[in-house]
Amino acid sequence: MPNELARALDAASLRSAVLAWRRAGERIGFVPTMGNLHAGHHSLVATARAQTDRVVASIFVNPTQFGPNEDFAAYPRTLEADATGLAASGCDLLFAPAANVLYPFGTDASVRVHVPGVSEGLCGAFRPGHFDGVATVVAKLFNLVQPDVAFFGRKDFQQLRVIERMVRDLAMPIEIVGVDTLREPNGLAMSSRNQYLSAEERERAAEIHRTLTAMRDAVGQGRSFAAIESAAVDRLDQSGFRVDYAAIRRADDLSVPAETQRDGLVALIAARLGKARLIDNVLI
Ligand code: PAJ
Repeated sequence: MPNELARALDAASLRSAVLAWRRAGERIGFVPTMGNLHAGHHSLVATARAQTDRVVASIFVNPTQFGPNEDFAAYPRTLEADATGLAASGCDLLFAPAANVLYPFGTDASVRVHVPGVSEGLCGAFRPGHFDGVATVVAKLFNLVQPDVAFFGRKDFQQLRVIERMVRDLAMPIEIVGVDTLREPNGLAMSSRNQYLSAEERERAAEIHRTLTAMRDAVGQGRSFAAIESAAVDRLDQSGFRVDYAAIRRADDLSVPAETQRDGLVALIAARLGKARLIDNVLI
């Protein structure tokens, strides 16, 4: 059957597929996901396709990165549609493991990877343990897939920095590539969580990107970071969001910048609207 995507469900079948490619001298690209794939995920696969010889994608809804009151149970699981889309985007192999492949001792007894500093502020402060769960599962996936290059969206900017830092500190021989955010025509960053929004909320959610653009412009105009951040929070409050943060940070390590620094920055927002928690950012 054409366009039938090869799948690996366990470590042995994954390893044998990847080993054959590696022995043939091929460069392996990897796109980790939690599934419910949209055009943003497919752009990661397309970027991997363009930069590597073989593309492995994973789908695993990782329990350890969800907090006790978060949406792990409700997270949309659409494996068959995802597999069809991945085949069309040029993916060579889908790794869709069961939980016991990634957590052979269970989640509570798992080794945990904690990345200090960069994982602690912003979303790390509002979602305790979230980035430990992300770093842990990505480290496990990297060991299983053993890619040469892995692709992550800039939409999850803090996640990208956490992974870069983990790879460098643990000397993992993997290149990390950040891929630009894909947006709806109204500016809303594509996200699996957008489907928690009503049609009206999806329109209103575009206010996050408009606010980020306004923050970027205000940085160029020389306004103080504190004034820019509080204006952004007010603006989102008035549109009915519950704001976790609106922040200007250094793009390299997400630390708080000196007022004199006006480039190499990133504006980031996390805010809840209806049932969804939305995040986005723009580089300055
Ligand atoms: P998930 O939310 O499924 O996202 C998978 C990848 O797609 C991430 O690198 C994310 O940044 C990227 N992505 C999401 N929306 C995007 C968009 N609009 N444009 C471009 N890229 C986008 O992030 C995770 O899964 C998990 O934390 C994971 C890394 C898989 C670990 O469990």
